[in-house]
Amino acid sequence: MSRNISFGAPMIGQEERTAVLDVLSGPILVHGPRVTEFEQGFAEFTESPHAVSVSSCTAGMHLVWFTLGFGPGDEVIVPAQTHTATAHAIEFTGAKPVFVDADVTTGNIDIAAMEAAITPRTRAVAVVHFLGMPVDMSTFLEVSRRHKLFVLEDCALAVGTKLDGVHAGLMGDVGVFSFYPVKHMTTAEGGMVITRDADLAARLKLRKAFGVDRTHGERKIPGTYDVVALGFNYRMSEIHAAIGVEQVKKLPSFLSKRADNYQALSTRLRKVEGIEQLASSDGRFVSSYYCLSVILDSQFAPRRAEIMEMLKTRGVGTSVYYPHPVPRMTYYREKYGWKDGSFPRAERISDNSIALSVGPHLDQEDMDYIADALSDTLEELR
Ligand SMILES: Cc1ncc(COP(=O)(O)O)c(C=O)c1O
Repeated sequence: MSRNISFGAPMIGQEERTAVLDVLSGPILVHGPRVTEFEQGFAEFTESPHAVSVSSCTAGMHLVWFTLGFGPGDEVIVPAQTHTATAHAIEFTGAKPVFVDADVTTGNIDIAAMEAAITPRTRAVAVVHFLGMPVDMSTFLEVSRRHKLFVLEDCALAVGTKLDGVHAGLMGDVGVFSFYPVKHMTTAEGGMVITRDADLAARLKLRKAFGVDRTHGERKIPGTYDVVALGFNYRMSEIHAAIGVEQVKKLPSFLSKRADNYQALSTRLRKVEGIEQLASSDGRFVSSYYCLSVILDSQFAPRRAEIMEMLKTRGVGTSVYYPHPVPRMTYYREKYGWKDGSFPRAERISDNSIALSVGPHLDQEDMDYIADALSDTLEELR
């Protein structure tokens, strides 16, 4: 029987609905206890000493670069195979994102290419755990520390990602997460910055709220404060945080469902000819299993759109992560120039892959269904 399998679906239950209505029936919509509770819950989950909520992952990454004082003349290394937000957050400050190619087996940043891209102007690296698979941070950090580079981990797809038992975001200097609806957990829009550095956490808190020197709770006389720095309004509201408080509690079950679904789908797809899978968890490296991207071989890659359309007819929703290497997107291409073939491994993923869902809204029977649908589709086109 035909199914209707969406690529992503927020897992909102009665707990989240009740929590939001609770906020709405009281007077405190910002500067309240839910934000603090959510920050504590996320800090506990990741075992981070500090967690600073923000309005999105993009805002959080911009906040970090801005707070560090990056600007024109500075360079930050970025993987070409990422969401445009990773590069935009740097670009906003006037600093230059310098793109490097992907590793062929994982899609993560190619560490040798990264080292080759370092110049005297390079101040930092924004590293992305692509589709939730951790970057080999021991090698990566050895190179970045040797060149005295600040390391931001873009953890938008990496809630639950671990390397040697350490959660993503705590291996570099700072980690930034996204709670956009199709992510591992959601607050509708929202993000979180985690760090081991107390001083950086305090500076981020100041800059995320106008640069005012005391929070609402700290003001002895209402309305009295000073502005000691330039800052944004990148705060999270109580409504968003209330959803987050409930979602964090459910993370272990969401993540184990993803892992089970991924293993089931991956095993089934190994028997299908004409596709390849990127490397996944192996004990030391624990993926968050954001999705399972298959790379089509040269026979099928030119027909990707048709294959995705045929899967849709069979009731299987798909996506592409990401549709272009960022430097090939018009804004970056026009600003920095683009040559076909400069990032061949990132281009291979962008041009030849199809992302299949392993989200917690799906079960093992859905995985069987997706695998059969893909196998039958390719058979039909052979
Ligand atoms: C790697 C990566 N970084 C950043 C973002 C942006 O996150 P947000 O929408 O929370 O700003 C995304 C969004 O999908 C992403 O995939």
